[in-house]
Amino acid sequence: MPLPPRTTDRPAGARLTFPTGFLWGAATAAYQIEGAVREDGRTPSIWDTFSHTPGRVHAGDTGDQATDHYHRYREDVALMGDLGLQAYRFSISWSRVQPTGRGPAVERGLDFYRRLTDQLLEAGIQPVATLYHWDLPQELEDRGGWPERDTAERFGEYAALAAEALRDRVAVWTTLNEPWCSAFLGYGSGVHAPGRTDPRAALRAAHHLNLGHGRAVAALRSTLPAGSQVAVSLNLHQVRALTQAPADLDAARRIDAVGNRIFTGPILQGGYPADLRTDTEHLVDWDALVHPGDEQAIGAPLDLLGINYYTPTLVSAPPADAVAPTPAKAAEHDAHGASEHSPWPGSESVLFHQPPGDRTAMGWSIDSSGLFDLVTGVARANPGLGLLITENGAAFEDVLTADGEVHDPERIAYLHTHLAAVHQAIAAGADVRGYFLWSLLDNFEWAYGYAKRFGAVYVDYPTQRRIPKASAHWYAATARANTIEPVPNPS
Ligand code: FCB
Repeated sequence: MPLPPRTTDRPAGARLTFPTGFLWGAATAAYQIEGAVREDGRTPSIWDTFSHTPGRVHAGDTGDQATDHYHRYREDVALMGDLGLQAYRFSISWSRVQPTGRGPAVERGLDFYRRLTDQLLEAGIQPVATLYHWDLPQELEDRGGWPERDTAERFGEYAALAAEALRDRVAVWTTLNEPWCSAFLGYGSGVHAPGRTDPRAALRAAHHLNLGHGRAVAALRSTLPAGSQVAVSLNLHQVRALTQAPADLDAARRIDAVGNRIFTGPILQGGYPADLRTDTEHLVDWDALVHPGDEQAIGAPLDLLGINYYTPTLVSAPPADAVAPTPAKAAEHDAHGASEHSPWPGSESVLFHQPPGDRTAMGWSIDSSGLFDLVTGVARANPGLGLLITENGAAFEDVLTADGEVHDPERIAYLHTHLAAVHQAIAAGADVRGYFLWSLLDNFEWAYGYAKRFGAVYVDYPTQRRIPKASAHWYAATARANTIEPVPNPS
């Protein structure tokens, strides 16, 4: 069903007001902020193992201490209040709650999330819990990890334990964060934990993440009170072809298949797409991998879809007369980190390009039209499904200046243009219910360690002092007003 054309029914220069009830939030993830990795019964996750393996993370950084949020959560919730946040998206550490990935829950681990959510509710901030933000208990990886079907069953059990403990406090849940990264960066290119580089394992992991999502949805539905909302957060790639040549369009189709539709197919559209199966049939026997009933379980209805967006993805086919590029060459332009192994099984020869224009400190091009196109496309394909932007934000080279402040006009501009794109998508008919800035605090940015700062709040790591950046003040004012100024020249 076509969306109505973009609306222009407001006077030029008028402020852009978001719908009443639009949720203003910020997001974090357990391993990136908590620290306290050996406290209260927590055991290592794959990210503890990975970060402690020499050469895996920039400067040998680990999440051992991170932002020490486990001990400073009260101060951090107070900061959220100052930022005018109405919602806070955090993730639960599986290895705190169920250290071996099986068996009963550890109450001391759950107590942390009980205290955190009590504090949030007291401050009038709605907790939004993510069950899995990449930190698989190491013991489950030792038994084969996500490429093994049993991991999906274990995830369903863990979901039930977490939901049982927090059902009175948390009304909005997302199962997985960015399963594309877990599968294809974790088991394909190997730039994320557990650092394996096996395209077959990566595809198997993708299916078992989907199945784990389905099992978790069932567990949440049977445990949570009526009216709770269940979602998944996907980093959907806004894939664009370099030219309209058939070969480039086919490259875009391939990346859309293994980047997006491998998840949206079974989760939202009834099953795995035929073209994905064909593109990857030399790597995986889909008929053996996908058991009868799996696609139904994975496709259990959701209340909301979480979309994480940072930058668009520009691709082409290699020139017809070129020697096929090595996977190293293909991966070189990929936004997710350098590896000689491709995170795109079956489509390793697709070339990735840097669009011209401004970039963030990650080297990611800044283009808010990608967010507009993505959100309106998802809305068109899924009428009736509520949407949440569960992550959006940018890293820049932030400096704490002598005046004790962090001036980050680039981040303000990034947030401004992307919020304008969200507003525009809503005006075009997309049902976007809220926006979660990534991230509340500077934190452990995975393979980049502490070198990349995404926070609205600066963290001085040696002292753990929190200093709201200029963007934090801007975001607080925006959230309170529920409006933004129009953007003269969106980028
Ligand atoms: C997303 C992750 C989040 C953070 C941002 C920058 O892919 O979900 O943890 O790393 O990117």
